[in-house]
Amino acid sequence: MITFENVTKKYGDDTVAVDDVSFTVKKGNLVTLIGPSGCGKTTTMKMINKLIPVTSGTISIDGKDISRENAVELRRNIGYVIQRIGLLPHMTIEENVSLVPKLKGWKKEVYQKKVDDLLDMVGLDPSIYKKKYPLELSGGQQQRIGVIRALAGEPPIILMDEPFSALDPISREQLQDELKILQKNIHKTIVFVTHDMDEALKIADEVIIMKAGSIQQVATPKTLLEKPINDFVSSFIGEERIQQSIQNRKLHRAETIMTPWKEGREESDLPSLSQDASLQEVARVMLAQNSESLIITDNSGKPVGRLQKNQLLQELAGVETGGK
Ligand SMILES: Nc1ncnc2c1ncn2[C@@H]1O[C@H](COP(=O)(O)OP(=O)(O)O)[C@@H](O)[C@H]1O
Ligand SMILES: [Mg+2]
Repeated sequence: MITFENVTKKYGDDTVAVDDVSFTVKKGNLVTLIGPSGCGKTTTMKMINKLIPVTSGTISIDGKDISRENAVELRRNIGYVIQRIGLLPHMTIEENVSLVPKLKGWKKEVYQKKVDDLLDMVGLDPSIYKKKYPLELSGGQQQRIGVIRALAGEPPIILMDEPFSALDPISREQLQDELKILQKNIHKTIVFVTHDMDEALKIADEVIIMKAGSIQQVATPKTLLEKPINDFVSSFIGEERIQQSIQNRKLHRAETIMTPWKEGREESDLPSLSQDASLQEVARVMLAQNSESLIITDNSGKPVGRLQKNQLLQELAGVETGGK
C-alpha cells in the first residue's frame, strides 16, 4: 500500500508542481494518474521511488515513511518503466532483464529461469529473444522487455510513466491487454501515468485525475463516468464517453428486458431487485438464490415487472453476439 499525506513539491520558489496531495493506492491495485501535460503526474510518481525529494508531507509504503529508507534499497523493490525504455543497447535481452535479480544476489539458475518465464509471459520465445540486442527488436517488443525487466526482481510495486505512449495504436492496445492479464496474475501494486483517457479507463482499478498539481477526483472508472465530480473532470473525460456510458448502462439494465407487472397478481416470495440493477447483478442474484425468475421493483420497492432466466440468457446472448 502506498500512502501520500499532504505531499507538496515545489521547484524553486515559484513552481508548485504537486500541491498538498493525499491519496492511497491499495495493495494489488492498478491506479492510473491522469491529467493534462504539466499537471504533476511524473513528479508525483518520481517521489515514490525518491528520484525527486518531497518539499513537504509524507509518503509511506506499507506504513513505513520512505524518507527514512535508503533510496537505492527502496528502488530495488520498486520496478520502474518509462516511455523510452532505456534498455542498455550493448547488453542482450537476457542481461537487461536480469540486472536487478543479479544485484539482489539471486543464483544464476534462478534468474535465468525467471528471464525465460517472463519472456514466455509476454509471448516472446526465450530461445529466440534471450540473446538478441534491444535494437534488433521492434518498439512494441522493446517495451515488453521494459515491462518484464521491471518485474524481474519481483518488486511489490511498479511505477509506469506513459510506458506505451510512443507505440503505434495496435501495439499499444495489445500491451494494455497484456498488462491487464498480467496484473490479474501477479497482483502487483501499480501506479501508471498516462494522458490518454481511454487507456486510463481501460486498465485502472482506480483513476486519479490531476489538474495543476491538485487531485480533482479519485474513483473507479465506472464511478468516474457516472459521477464526474466537477466540470474539469467531465470535460477531461469528454461528453462523448459519458454519453456512451449512459447508453451502455441503459442497455444493460434489468428494466429493459423484464415483463411488465400485472396488477392483481399475487405477491410471491421470489427474490426482488431494483429496475436499475445491471444484468450482471440479476445473474448474480439468480445464481445465488438458485431462482428461475425475479421480481423487479421501482425505487420505492413496488413491483414493476418480472424477469425470467430465459429472458436474461437471450439478452446476454444477443449482447455477446453484438445483436443489441
Ligand atoms: N526539474 C524541474 N525543474 C523545474 N520545474 C519542473 C521540473 N520538473 C517539472 N517541472 C515543472 O513541474 C510541473 C509538473 O511537471 P511534471 O510532473 O513533469 O508534469 P506531467 O508529468 O504531468 O506532465 C510542470 O509545471 C513542470 O514544468
Ligand atoms: Mg510526465
